[in-house]
Amino acid sequence: MVAARITVNGKETPISPAAPHTTVLDFLRERGLTGTKEGCAEGECGACSVLVARPGVNKPTDWVAVNACLVPVAALDGQEVITSEGLATAGESGTPAALHPVQEEMAVRGGSQCGYCTPGFICSMASEYYRPDRCAHPDPADATTTTGTGTGTGTGTEHGPNGFDLHALSGNLCRCTGYRPIRDAAFAVGAPAEDDPLAQRREQSPPEPVSTAYTRGESAFLRPSTLADALQLLRERTDAVVVAGSTDWGVEVNIRSRRANCVVAVDRLPELREMRVESDHIEIGAAQTLTEIERRLDGSVPLLAELFPQFASRLIRNSATLGGNLGTGSPIGDSPPVLLALEASVVLADADGEREVPLSDYFTGYRQSVRRPGELIRAVRIPLPLSPVAAFHKIAKRRFDDISSVAVAFALDIEDGIVRKARIGLGGVAATPIRALATEAALEGKPWAAQTVEAASQVLQAQGTPMDDHRASAGYRSAMLGQSLLKLYAQTTEAVSS
Ligand code: FES
Ligand code: FES
Repeated sequence: MVAARITVNGKETPISPAAPHTTVLDFLRERGLTGTKEGCAEGECGACSVLVARPGVNKPTDWVAVNACLVPVAALDGQEVITSEGLATAGESGTPAALHPVQEEMAVRGGSQCGYCTPGFICSMASEYYRPDRCAHPDPADATTTTGTGTGTGTGTEHGPNGFDLHALSGNLCRCTGYRPIRDAAFAVGAPAEDDPLAQRREQSPPEPVSTAYTRGESAFLRPSTLADALQLLRERTDAVVVAGSTDWGVEVNIRSRRANCVVAVDRLPELREMRVESDHIEIGAAQTLTEIERRLDGSVPLLAELFPQFASRLIRNSATLGGNLGTGSPIGDSPPVLLALEASVVLADADGEREVPLSDYFTGYRQSVRRPGELIRAVRIPLPLSPVAAFHKIAKRRFDDISSVAVAFALDIEDGIVRKARIGLGGVAATPIRALATEAALEGKPWAAQTVEAASQVLQAQGTPMDDHRASAGYRSAMLGQSLLKLYAQTTEAVSS
């Protein structure tokens, strides 16, 4: 096996002697690439953003921005990374001779003051700059206002005339500039020049995933190359921590100083990266990133299209997976309420075979599930056809890049004014994500009318066992549940009358 190495700004660099838990951020900074900054070390500020060459959706390669503070450098064995230093064209002496167009716009439009956040913004902005379909769709209608019930989260000002989607920067925080000059810079960048080396790089395939066995002392980072190998490994190593994008494990490592003797990466397993649309269901591989799913589905599952812009930030969605969000079993994960409303199931695989479990039977307690030791989530299945009335309401302190206090997903079939089927998923109101079964029963068979909705809203308000914590009080959470159904009703009647 070839020694683990990573290509940084075109230069191959051995990963050794970094520890298996060393993050990309620390690895880069220890090698003098200090443009990549640490602000929070938990995926919330974007100061550490770097670009990674990944399989593309519309071209062979996409330049994808990720949080370097969350990803172990061993996870990028064989991969290519570009930092803010590498975006500038290198001069003969090896020092930057010209700013990248994104850097140029940030400089001339006053997008940087203290500069701490700037390299992270630059990398996120560069990722959007190189998005292949950006310039093909200039000034589109705000995507987040055209999904589901048409209510969305957008304001109509989130795409520039150059097609730049400001959601690309939703994971980058700045404490100085007030954001407007940064938005000005983002909306001013043009199309990449034909001889731009990073634009040209998109036409070639990204590096193939390599099988990695990176060990130091007692600890190991392992990347098997097939699902069969991974399942065998998980059978033998019952102490293994399974990671895909590391957006959860990276926080545990950095903030809670957790370490594992064995980390097993599954994010590049081909069997976990498929998307299949069949006549009666859609199957989404558990290790596709949320960004990949969003772009591949392209709005065809409106409830998911409403979810994605509200799920953390673009930087997190570039690494996070549905398998990871369900695997952690968090009661405040954003995808479970939506997947419950969609009546999704999970396909669990181990070395002996597969089984399919409805998501409504999957969670068994706080961060617990029916998933057995040695089992992996291989895929998520969403049955078709979809219910036509769908909405996702996330109640949080910030619109983006935040954790929900309460999340409610609705999927309703309403025919001739009667609710034929209601599926409602809730997050943040119990030890696990739950279905609002009593509210569903209160709606089904009844007219979709103010009287029904008001009565059902009282039922919804009493669902779950919400708690007081630092995000919200139990009373507030209950009130928001009831309110969310009233809001849905208002949205559907607005949609009919408009
Ligand atoms: Fe804040 Fe990485 S340091 S997101
Ligand atoms: Fe100072 Fe952004 S320029 S934090």
